[in-house]
Amino acid sequence: MITPVLSVENLCLKLTADRGGAPLLSGVSFEIRSGEIFGLVGESGSGKTLTALAAMRLLPPAIEATGRVMFDGADLLSLPERDMRKLRGSRIGMVFQEPVAALNPTFTIGAQLVSAIRAHHQFSRGRARDRAVELLDMVGIPEPRARLGFYPHQFSGGMCQRVMIAMALAGGARLLLADEPTTSLDVTTQDEIVRLLEKLSREHGIAVLFISHDLGLVARLCHRIAVAYAGELVEVGTADALLQAPLHPYTQGLVRCVPDLTQIGVLRGGIPGTPPMPGNWPAGCRFQPRCTIAADGCERLQSIASTTDRAVRCWRAGSDAGSEAAAVAERVTS
Ligand SMILES: Nc1ncnc2c1ncn2[C@@H]1O[C@H](COP(=O)(O)OP(=O)(O)O)[C@@H](O)[C@H]1O
Ligand code: SF4
Ligand SMILES: [Mg+2]
Repeated sequence: MITPVLSVENLCLKLTADRGGAPLLSGVSFEIRSGEIFGLVGESGSGKTLTALAAMRLLPPAIEATGRVMFDGADLLSLPERDMRKLRGSRIGMVFQEPVAALNPTFTIGAQLVSAIRAHHQFSRGRARDRAVELLDMVGIPEPRARLGFYPHQFSGGMCQRVMIAMALAGGARLLLADEPTTSLDVTTQDEIVRLLEKLSREHGIAVLFISHDLGLVARLCHRIAVAYAGELVEVGTADALLQAPLHPYTQGLVRCVPDLTQIGVLRGGIPGTPPMPGNWPAGCRFQPRCTIAADGCERLQSIASTTDRAVRCWRAGSDAGSEAAAVAERVTS
């Protein structure tokens, strides 16, 4: 049994009592192994960003977390803030959707990288600059030494995202949380960044949580995928299993209308209706109002039948009704 790099166990988030106490995320569990790229996919508002923020303990003060987020034998949810601060940007790196905004426009790329490196290593300035060159080279920036003197505005969006990835790796990250890292980039640049993440995870054993609304992209890059819906995971499986034999009616709908889930309620040719907002979740299965095979009992659905490699949160998945829905999905796809 391989020890996972990150293990999220029954993660639940809710607003604090003075903000109404509404739940935002319920019973989210998954694990990511060394060298694995794990995809978290779902429509806007399904709780993807909150999951990553909870793992970094960067949630806004109005949101409370319970459960466990195990990394290197420690529960990140209960680690003292001093230790957590040491982990952020060192063993755990994070990249976001807007790379240009994440860099400081008033400092050179070199200065920002050197400072990220020296925050985590006792390097002289010269040694940190050498390491910065190595990191830029590692993320595919040509002529890295000359580029240390460039300012962020002199770089394209794709180059800035490469720099952000270099910054995230500056402290020797074993885990990279990537929240929609390619969403603001054009398709060609998107592909380059995806190939870079693949290379880093393969060559350096870095575990990656890749968050996206784009199932097509996630399926191309990730080894295993979790599908989020209304603050829960409804299905977990290998990319192949999920695409070729989706079990949950929601995943079946997604596969049918790949690729884009950016806008709520406009799944092309797919699932009519919109996901319920936090606070308005139906009892039991939250997909009920949109599910074509919903039946008596769905309102009592409790927990995901969980194995780490394949799990589905639907008691009718695999039944005759479930297979019928899958067959319809297949007919529509082919
Ligand atoms: N600071 C906050 N206060 C209240 N609700 C929030 C806050 N941040 C996010 N939410 C709610 O939590 C849900 C999940 O948000 P998020 O994780 O950002 O979704 P995703 O990244 O999947 O689009 C959304 O419905 C959003 O409105
Ligand atoms: S069959 Fe019931 S439990 Fe399964 S997805 Fe539909 S509503 Fe949910
Ligand atoms: Mg998000």
